[in-house]
Amino acid sequence: MTSLGVVNSHAKLSVVGGGVIGLSVAWRAARLGWQVTVHDPAPGRGASWVAGGMLTPLSEGWPGEDRLLDLGLASLKLWPAFAQMLDPSIVSARGALTVALDAADVADLLRIAQWLQSRGQHIDVLDRAGVRTVEPVVSRAVRLGLYSPDELSVDNRALVAALQSAALAAGVEFRSETVTDLDALDADQVVLAAGVNSHQLCPQLPVRAVKGEILRLRSRAGSLPGPATTIRARVHGRPVYLVPRGDGLVVGATQYESADTQVTVAGVRDLISDAEAVFPAIGDFELYETSAGLRPMTPDNMPLIGRVDDRVIAATGHGRGGILLTPITVEGVLAALTDREPESSAAAALQTADPSRCAGVTT
Ligand code: GLY
Repeated sequence: MTSLGVVNSHAKLSVVGGGVIGLSVAWRAARLGWQVTVHDPAPGRGASWVAGGMLTPLSEGWPGEDRLLDLGLASLKLWPAFAQMLDPSIVSARGALTVALDAADVADLLRIAQWLQSRGQHIDVLDRAGVRTVEPVVSRAVRLGLYSPDELSVDNRALVAALQSAALAAGVEFRSETVTDLDALDADQVVLAAGVNSHQLCPQLPVRAVKGEILRLRSRAGSLPGPATTIRARVHGRPVYLVPRGDGLVVGATQYESADTQVTVAGVRDLISDAEAVFPAIGDFELYETSAGLRPMTPDNMPLIGRVDDRVIAATGHGRGGILLTPITVEGVLAALTDREPESSAAAALQTADPSRCAGVTT
């Protein structure tokens, strides 16, 4: 690496991709003195715009995905300070409840609770009455729940807006363009935060698109109140989540190995029917938006955060967890840019996201 490890107020940094990851890196690097340009034809309008905004590593944890759990927990710890620096009002809900509707779901949730315990984590196991005390709006068919009171969700679109303002205020330049060649950028250092386009720009990084459809609903005069906590469930084997958002709800998400962003009739039908199994009063809400986004997935479901070579740093492959993993990604990228170790609370988790695990990355 060049002398760029030392913060240099004249060093040029190009951030390719203006989603929440790219915008956050750009904002924080500009505050450190870098001369930053974000390259994106439509900043903040990709997966970040479609996202649910859940910060729920425990509730989304799955036995076997231990490294992702640790990374998510380390990032959740950084979120309150990150939100505080930006705009604390972007936090839109507290608490997450995962519910079981049949015997197989009950067995799965108990297995997840045990796995979390074996990882030194705790999640409350609630019986039917306990679930309805935490969230009275859920269906009477719910048999058991896992409750995590300290998990959060954020309004992803308010987050995008706050990051765009913060980046502009810090002096970041925005170029409305699609980058096709990293070598052609007039920059000393490059951060690749291009989501599903990352593989095209850097073939060593195995990032593929996994499509997700999502619905936005709001209450109407006379609707029953929606949930106050984020609710997750598996219905007919399909995952569904309901995230409170102002006077409404975000309901997601389908999952397909596909790279188009068309919203399908079947996707909308399944999401509504699965959400209704959990929250029966949903039919009274207004469905005002359907959308689809592309998750940048990797073969091991872990993101790619760190140096690819002397000039390029990866900040991509965040799969289902881009919003949750934003603060820890910023920490990893700034550490790589300034040639220092990441904060100790984040260092071990970031090590597991290092792109050196990909064939062809030689740092
Ligand atoms: N983070 C939720 C999803 O990808 O659907």
